Amino acid sequence: MISQKTVQEIIETAKIEEVVGDFVSLKRAGVNLKGLCPFHNEKTPSFVVSPSKNLCKCFGCGKGGDPIQFIREHENMSYPEALRFLANKYGIKVEETETSEEQRQERQLADSLYIVNEFALKHFQEQLLETDYGKSIGLGYFKERGFRQEIIKKFGLGFTPNTRQDFKTKALNAGYKEEHLSKLGLVSKAGNDFFRNRVMFTIHSLTGKVVGFAGRILVKGTKAPKYLNSPESEIYNKSKTLYGAYFAKTAIRKNDECIMVEGYTDVLSLHQAGIEHVVASSGTSLTEGQIRLIKRYTPNMKFIYDGDAAGIKAALRGLDLVLEQDMNVKVVLLPEGEDPDSYLKKVGTTVFKEYIDKEAKDFILFKTQLLLEEAAGDPIKKANLIKDIVESIAKIPDPIKRSVFVKECSTVMDVEEQILVNEVNKIFNRNIQKKRLQKSAKINQSLQALAEDVQGIEVPFPTEEEFSTKTIVSKPSRSGNEFQEKDIIRLLLEFGEELMDKEEALTVAHYILANVEEVVEDFENPVYKKIALECYELLGQEKAVARQHFIQHQDEEIKQTTLNLLSSPYEYSPNWEKIHDQPLQTQKKPEDNFINDTLSSVNRFKLKSIIKLCAQNQERIKEAFSEGDEIKGFQLMKVQQVLNEKRKIMAEQLGGTVVLK
Ligand code: CTP
Ligand code: MN
Repeated sequence: MISQKTVQEIIETAKIEEVVGDFVSLKRAGVNLKGLCPFHNEKTPSFVVSPSKNLCKCFGCGKGGDPIQFIREHENMSYPEALRFLANKYGIKVEETETSEEQRQERQLADSLYIVNEFALKHFQEQLLETDYGKSIGLGYFKERGFRQEIIKKFGLGFTPNTRQDFKTKALNAGYKEEHLSKLGLVSKAGNDFFRNRVMFTIHSLTGKVVGFAGRILVKGTKAPKYLNSPESEIYNKSKTLYGAYFAKTAIRKNDECIMVEGYTDVLSLHQAGIEHVVASSGTSLTEGQIRLIKRYTPNMKFIYDGDAAGIKAALRGLDLVLEQDMNVKVVLLPEGEDPDSYLKKVGTTVFKEYIDKEAKDFILFKTQLLLEEAAGDPIKKANLIKDIVESIAKIPDPIKRSVFVKECSTVMDVEEQILVNEVNKIFNRNIQKKRLQKSAKINQSLQALAEDVQGIEVPFPTEEEFSTKTIVSKPSRSGNEFQEKDIIRLLLEFGEELMDKEEALTVAHYILANVEEVVEDFENPVYKKIALECYELLGQEKAVARQHFIQHQDEEIKQTTLNLLSSPYEYSPNWEKIHDQPLQTQKKPEDNFINDTLSSVNRFKLKSIIKLCAQNQERIKEAFSEGDEIKGFQLMKVQQVLNEKRKIMAEQLGGTVVLK
């Protein structure tokens, strides 16, 4: 690992205008600099570089970040790669550290496994390109399929002869451990070479490391499986790996689209024909991790399916997962009997490209049409079809997209739009209901804990009058909540690492998170919630809540939100004073005031959670009395008094009277 000290030095040294300036020609524009965005095509510059904030951001496509993030995006580098790149640019010496013994060992193991795989790759390539047998059988096969030398080398294709232990012996002689060979699945349980008499495909990680292999059988008519694949290992997580992704990522960004095919050979063929933004799921159904990996580069996916795919309906079901991730999904069905590789060879690149452009249908409409054909003349089947489609549409998070699909599908299926709207809403509400139930279970728990806390406290019974419910029930206003969340998250991101209390070495992040824990599950804004939850995770791992972490986040939404919060000038909500009935306490610039800001922001949060508990408890009191359970009722009223007391204290601390509706 690169030491924290080095990382810090890089962060402090790297100037955004210099780093960006190496790739983009920048012109002064007031306090900032401007240039043409390197991430998308444009004619008028909207890429802004702010030396004072040390950030860059494109106001066209939204991409940007700090120097490290910029290099990662622009150069397609991993975090450590980008750090090394910048260290090199500024002549900073990179200091490596090992955090813990366990981590050190893990890393050492991973390093050794990569080295072993690298050795295996060399061996497979040698067999293919330098032995007579390999050349005639393996290379002959690839040549016959039309793969050229450069693609064979680039993708690390190889060959294994039909010998029992050739590879193993060679590896052991070269000093590699048998334990590592088995871990990687290169040697079978019985102690023989796992891949035998097969042509080999190398599977790379996103950063180009060799994580595994696949071997395709050459002889026909045996019972052996067509493909053998490396098992998962410390370095190979199948659900986060896509075949070809390493070679495709730049092209995916450029084309703003990722083409998804099924087979290894499809990826190779398309790539060879200059269609480089293509990856394969390798026969298994797509996982969330794989989709997220693509989402880092583009929201647009195009699936190409074989023309005779019997399992196409099953495959389509898997696509709901992609919709849930808010991706745009298109589907291309090839002519009968063709897969991408064969069809491309048959018609040539130009026709192939035209075909996949022209035939690409939106996934939901495609599915509708496909099922409709099948259901022709059968009303029961058609009813099921409608349910099926509606399920898919209800998965789309974006309401505008949802309504567009409802409209189109109603035309295609010849069903009244209102019927579809109702169905979609039903499913939607069902999902929301589920979430609410989970939420209220949580609130009940915290109420219970509080009730247990106050058991045994002597509180005089309240009078009839005091019991009158009107005085207490309140609802926090919605706009207020979102703004408070925003405020809290901004403070976390901007000052998370600063010290709240120098003597206790308490950071702002620690303070905020310890205080909002109770209500974080109820955050209204899902992105703020995600950020907050992730902060807990960071602290749990004893890592700092560093803004870099969020600026470089994999999750595009988190990254964007962070950038926006950090780059927008700090402002109060326009109706801030109205909502809270108190004058603004801070007139200084936020960076001079983060302790005050944090304290009051946190107090507003606590107040919010107590107000909520008050309302909840009030309901329970009513319920207890209406059920005739007076003992419980009075018990709850004691709780209410404690809550009211707490609320009052908090409101006083906030320095204003809090208006309750
Ligand atoms: N696959 C697999 N194991 C199998 C069969 C298939 O892992 N026994 C995966 C492979 O990733 C393969 C993909 O499913 O690439 C598609 O299978 P198929 O179309 O049969 O193979 P192709 O890659 O098209 O191979 P070829 O063109 O050489 O027949
Ligand atoms: Mn094929």
